[in-house]
Amino acid sequence: MNPGVKRKFGRVELDVTAFGFGAAPIGNFLKPISESESQAMIETAWDAGVRFYDTAPMYGHGLSELRTGHYLRWKPRDEYVLATKVGRLLRPSRRETIDFAPWSNAAAFTPQFDYSYDGTMRSFEDSLQRLGLERIDVCFIHDIDRFSRGDAQPEVFQAAMDGCWRALEKLRSEGQVKAIGVGVNEWDVCYEALKRRDFDCFLLAGRYTLLEQDALNGFLPLCEKRGAAVAVGGGFNSGILATGARPGAKYNYSPAPEAIMAKVARIEQVCTRFAVPLAAAALQFVVAHPAIPTFIAGTRTVEQLKQNLEWFSFPVPKDFWAELKRQGLLRGDAPTP
Ligand SMILES: NC(=O)c1ccc[n+]([C@@H]2O[C@H](COP(=O)([O-])OP(=O)(O)OC[C@H]3O[C@@H](n4cnc5c(N)ncnc54)[C@H](OP(=O)(O)O)[C@@H]3O)[C@@H](O)[C@H]2O)c1
Repeated sequence: MNPGVKRKFGRVELDVTAFGFGAAPIGNFLKPISESESQAMIETAWDAGVRFYDTAPMYGHGLSELRTGHYLRWKPRDEYVLATKVGRLLRPSRRETIDFAPWSNAAAFTPQFDYSYDGTMRSFEDSLQRLGLERIDVCFIHDIDRFSRGDAQPEVFQAAMDGCWRALEKLRSEGQVKAIGVGVNEWDVCYEALKRRDFDCFLLAGRYTLLEQDALNGFLPLCEKRGAAVAVGGGFNSGILATGARPGAKYNYSPAPEAIMAKVARIEQVCTRFAVPLAAAALQFVVAHPAIPTFIAGTRTVEQLKQNLEWFSFPVPKDFWAELKRQGLLRGDAPTP
């Protein structure tokens, strides 16, 4: 598939490109990325026809929004779709007092969780200012899962379904944002949110990939029924589906456990047999699901990005998918390209 092909974003009047640009790495995730490399990455994506960009206040404590806006500000506003998130406010702080982890040398702000109505409105306004843009198209409630919030999750979820929901619903009804949703690392949290509220979309990170498809248990079928769009982030499971099962490979932002290494190694054997790059399969598999219009890929360098753009349209034979299913490496009910 061409990375720049436009696909309908569920029931909403928005078209996103099948390849989306994930702006978490340019918030200096784990390691610094220079200004010039981050601008070159956005430019490479733009030149390849990518017109969907996902950022968040949390990414580099505002740095990712600043960098994303710096480039996109000068592009015709109706030509691209921009997503950001709510759930944290950024308070200006002295640099030496800030705990930047997992970001490296981020912007001089301390994030504070805030899922209230007022906090959500403030977050939305602050994002517009940092981006320097007149409009945000898609807004996700960020990190209301157990992965991010641990034991506080039930309370946080409840607060978000009240405060954030009311604020975003108002912004949507006023036409200030076109699509509202939830951005998390757990599909069952998305499922619960969709059962509770009339969301348009989700950003599901790492939980519908070539490695794992449990989101087919209820959540993705409900999205299809309701016309909710799912943007998949973390589609390389944070690295291992791009690098393969090599020493130091990452799964869920940590060293990959043995069982994951073993499963990826088996998938790689099939890849070798059919001469298909693992990352090409990872990219193309995700967007074969009818509820998933876009794969938001994260990259650290222009070279990685160029490779991923190429792999997006690498010709993968139909038999490859059939073989993965035959070996039980892919769920039988998972749609394939
Ligand atoms: N809660 C949420 O809403 C949420 C959560 C997660 C992600 N997201 C969104 O989804 C986007 C993507 O997620 P992600 O970046 O966390 O995970 P990802 O796309 O699964 O993995 C990205 C990592 O894979 C590696 N990689 C990518 N292309 C490669 C290539 N060609 N060769 C070798 N390695 C390659 C790089 O690792 P190295 O850095 O080690 O080189 C890169 O940082 C984010 O930027 C963000 O926009 C949202």
